Amino acid sequence: MKIRRAELNRSCARVPQFPRTSRPEFAFLGRSNVGKSSLLNALVQRKQLARTSSTPGKTRLVHFFEVDLEGIELMFVDLPGYGWARVSRKERESWRGLVEGYLEGSEALCTAVLLQDIRRDLSEDETLLIEWLRERDVDTLLVLTKADKLKNMRRKKRVAEIRQQLAEREVSLLVTSSQSKLGIFELWDAIRQRL
Ligand code: GTP
Ligand code: MG
Repeated sequence: MKIRRAELNRSCARVPQFPRTSRPEFAFLGRSNVGKSSLLNALVQRKQLARTSSTPGKTRLVHFFEVDLEGIELMFVDLPGYGWARVSRKERESWRGLVEGYLEGSEALCTAVLLQDIRRDLSEDETLLIEWLRERDVDTLLVLTKADKLKNMRRKKRVAEIRQQLAEREVSLLVTSSQSKLGIFELWDAIRQRL
C-alpha cells in the first residue's frame, strides 16, 4: 500500500469547525485507550501522526487527517474515546455532542470503524453504538485491536466469543495489531472495498 501523503487537516473542539470536503471519510471510534490513534498511524505508516498515549483520554478533539493513496483521496477521522472513568459528566456530554454531531452531520462519512480490545467483551457502550449506527444506516466495521497481546489459539477463541456477542448484527469483523501490524493490510482492503 503506497501512501503518498498523510497530514492533519484540522483538529476541532466544536461541530461547526468540522471541515466539509468531498473526501470519503472513515471515522475511528471506540473506548478510550483502545488504540484508535495507534491504528490510524499503523495504516498510514507514520509513528506519531495521530498522538497516542498510555493515559486514556489523550484524544479530546476530533482530528481530520487527509490521506492520499495512489489515485485515491480519503479522510481519516480520529474521534475522542468514550468510557474514560475519570471524566466529569460535563466532559461526557461534550464527547457525546462531538461524536454524535460528527456521525449525524457528516455528509462524506463512508464507514464507522469501531474498535474493540480483543481481550474485552463487548459492553453496552459498543452494542448501543452498533445499534445507533445501524438505525442511521452507517456502514460499520468492527476492528479488534491489540491482538499481539494474545497467543494464536486464545486469539481465535476471543474472535469466536465476540462474534457470538454480536449476535445477528451485520458487522464485518477484523483482527489487528498496530504493534505487530497484523491485519493492517486486510483493513486497507476493507477500506478500499468501500470506496
Ligand atoms: P484515546 O485517544 O485516549 O481515546 O486512546 P486511543 O484509542 O487513541 O489509544 P492509543 O492509540 O493512544 O493507544 C493507547 C495505548 O495502547 C498506548 O499505550 C498504545 O501504545 C497501546 N496500543 C495501541 N495499539 C496497540 C497494539 O496493537 N498492541 C499493543 N500491545 N499496544 C497497543
Ligand atoms: Mg487517541
